[in-house]
Amino acid sequence: MGKIIAIANQKGGVGKTTTSINLAAGLAVLEKKVLLIDADPQANTTSGLGFDTKAIAGATIYECLIGESDAHRAVLETEIKDLKLIPSHIDLVGAEIEMLQTPNREKVLKNVLSRIAPEYDYLLIDCSPSLGLITVNALTAADSVIIPVQCEFYALEGLGKLLNTIKIVQTRLNTNLAIEGFLLTMYDARLRLANQIVDEVRRHFPNMVFQTIIQRNVKLSESPSYGKPVILYDAASVGSNNYLNLAKEVIYNNESPR
Ligand SMILES: Nc1ncnc2c1ncn2[C@@H]1O[C@H](COP(=O)(O)OP(=O)(O)OP(=O)(O)O)[C@@H](O)[C@H]1O
Ligand SMILES: [Mg+2]
Repeated sequence: MGKIIAIANQKGGVGKTTTSINLAAGLAVLEKKVLLIDADPQANTTSGLGFDTKAIAGATIYECLIGESDAHRAVLETEIKDLKLIPSHIDLVGAEIEMLQTPNREKVLKNVLSRIAPEYDYLLIDCSPSLGLITVNALTAADSVIIPVQCEFYALEGLGKLLNTIKIVQTRLNTNLAIEGFLLTMYDARLRLANQIVDEVRRHFPNMVFQTIIQRNVKLSESPSYGKPVILYDAASVGSNNYLNLAKEVIYNNESPR
């Protein structure tokens, strides 16, 4: 059974999508079978992997969630052999409302993925910047959650609310949900503030912060417009190295005997 990891933070622009794409690519390059699920109506993961979101002919996560498609039918191949994608579509905004009528509406994604998860080693879910029903579905389907935290002044803002949501999901919907780790993103070593944030987050969440820190790197922001993970766009870049290290850390944390 593949490990399902949600990438979540209701704060916008903290690096969820960048982490989803590049961690997934890193894991796939390290020969893990990876399924990336775009669960954000913005569909940035889908376009960041080179798909024209308006031109996807087959099913997307939306059709899967409303029960019109099996997950297998929505899977797309990517440039990396072991990296597959279930794309998103702007229609997904409507799914939150359509799913309100569904029995067990928080568990729809869990059921969708249960049929396909055994075929992969890792399934990553890129969440939207909200704590709405689809994000709750992602947290309910997941074994663990990665929380990207941007190294900026208000880094810790909003984390209380996110952790509270995680706690509610753990109590009512998914007792197994673990925090895989907080991931510091967009770190700029030239800024003293960035170092203060790193210290503060580590102090606040001891032993819960990934050792790997994602630096601010222009290649990471350029690569989506070329429809590629950074490792295919510039393998020698700092961003590519950072995400490969994160992939190794995730594999180590999950697969090395304790
Ligand atoms: N380490 C980085 N270095 C440079 N730019 C980055 C880095 N991480 C993310 N970015 C850029 O910052 C912006 C926001 O990142 P991203 O889209 O990954 O955040 P997000 O949390 O998914 O946003 P949203 O909440 O809208 O889904 C993007 O333009 C992205 O290219
Ligand atoms: Mg995003």
